[in-house]
Amino acid sequence: MTSNNTCYVWKWLKGKTEPVVAGIIRIDNNGEMSFRYGNSYLQRNDKEPIYAEELPLIGEQMFAGNIGLINFSSIRDAAPDAWGRRVIHSKLELDPDQFLDEMTYMMNSSSDRIGSIDFQSSPTQYEARDVEQATLAELQSAADIIAAGQKLPIELDKALLHGTALGGARPKAMIIDNDAKYIAKFSTSTDTYDIVKSEYIAMKLATLCGINAAEVKLVHTTGKDALLVKRFDREKVAGNNWYRQSMISGLTVLQLDESIAHYSSYPEIVEKMQRLCKSFSEDATELYKRVVFNVLIGNTDDHARNHAFFVDGEQLLLTPAYDICPQNRTGGEAGHGMIIHKGSNKSTIKNCLLAAPTFHVSPKDALKIIENQIKTINHKFENLCDEANLSPEGRRILWKRAVLNDYIFYEHDELKELVTYQLP
Ligand SMILES: Nc1ncnc2c1ncn2[C@@H]1O[C@H](COP(=O)(O)OP(=O)(O)OP(=O)(O)O)[C@@H](O)[C@H]1O
Ligand SMILES: [Mg+2]
Repeated sequence: MTSNNTCYVWKWLKGKTEPVVAGIIRIDNNGEMSFRYGNSYLQRNDKEPIYAEELPLIGEQMFAGNIGLINFSSIRDAAPDAWGRRVIHSKLELDPDQFLDEMTYMMNSSSDRIGSIDFQSSPTQYEARDVEQATLAELQSAADIIAAGQKLPIELDKALLHGTALGGARPKAMIIDNDAKYIAKFSTSTDTYDIVKSEYIAMKLATLCGINAAEVKLVHTTGKDALLVKRFDREKVAGNNWYRQSMISGLTVLQLDESIAHYSSYPEIVEKMQRLCKSFSEDATELYKRVVFNVLIGNTDDHARNHAFFVDGEQLLLTPAYDICPQNRTGGEAGHGMIIHKGSNKSTIKNCLLAAPTFHVSPKDALKIIENQIKTINHKFENLCDEANLSPEGRRILWKRAVLNDYIFYEHDELKELVTYQLP
């Protein structure tokens, strides 16, 4: 019998377009989560662990408390985050700060969630909580209304449910465009600079710097821009069906509770990657390039949920990069969302050079990566601002403030010579 403190996890197995029931989640009165794989699932030849480090394929009930967590992190990754929770509060006509339990969030969000699992009330019948498609204009209006704390008209209510299963704090929705699924990220009236365009420029620059970043498009709707980020955890196959790729966040790899996420560190993640990644050396170098890029363009919001890994059986592979956006900066000094080297999250090239050996990158290669990225940013910044039609003020906010801020060159003034571009 299903009660509202119990639900079933359904999982899309590799190469399958329909889910199977994988296990049962219980949340006790203290909010602690437990999970047990179903016998039918354990008997399958093609069974896969949700995340073997956290939920190995065993036939026993597992308690999150036993690993120092309240919720299993690999399950929490598929549940709504700040934005999705806000939409659910609005849908249920509750105050934004009213307490809701985790199960309510899990069961009131749409089914097209991150990765390859979904939450259901039945172990025998899968019913997708899919929602009607909406236009980008409707989605943007709905996001504006929620962000302003107002009540959504019923016709927009459905539209925005698309975004509830996606993580993150910024307003977003999920859209399907022919053969791909996209996350649409919107602006808000409280943005102090053009975040949508800045994220577009940074994501494009990342690709030009040799980073494997998610594909992005800038679209214009109702007088506003929206960023479309192609989902890398979905693949369209014959018959209008989709594969869902398993994925977990960096926070899950670190097995840290969200409340102490600010203690997360790149060296610790690399240590885990060495044991778990299928192609450790490639992934560690790729992650190093992302850390350097975050420092160079001032993306200090690089917390552990802004990194993710595909799960392949018991192994991991770094996903493409996402959510890279220069953060507004007035002064010089800045710190990152994760520790870069020996307890320091300082946004400096010096820190990146010191950290290189941790990522198994030689000092010579590290310097080459840094120099190449500075040159690319210097060379391509203007083109990309033009392409995004970023205003002169928008460029002033980025150039030498968030992007290539003087402070990052601390004790490495010689690299400043590579920065030759000047705003008109
Ligand atoms: N291209 C993508 N493909 C699949 N999943 C993605 C993609 N981009 C983001 N995600 C997932 O969606 C979540 C939210 O996206 P994103 O981090 O871009 O949103 P955000 O609101 O800007 O986040 P934050 O709260 O960090 O500012 C991510 O944590 C990640 O799990
Ligand atoms: Mg994010």
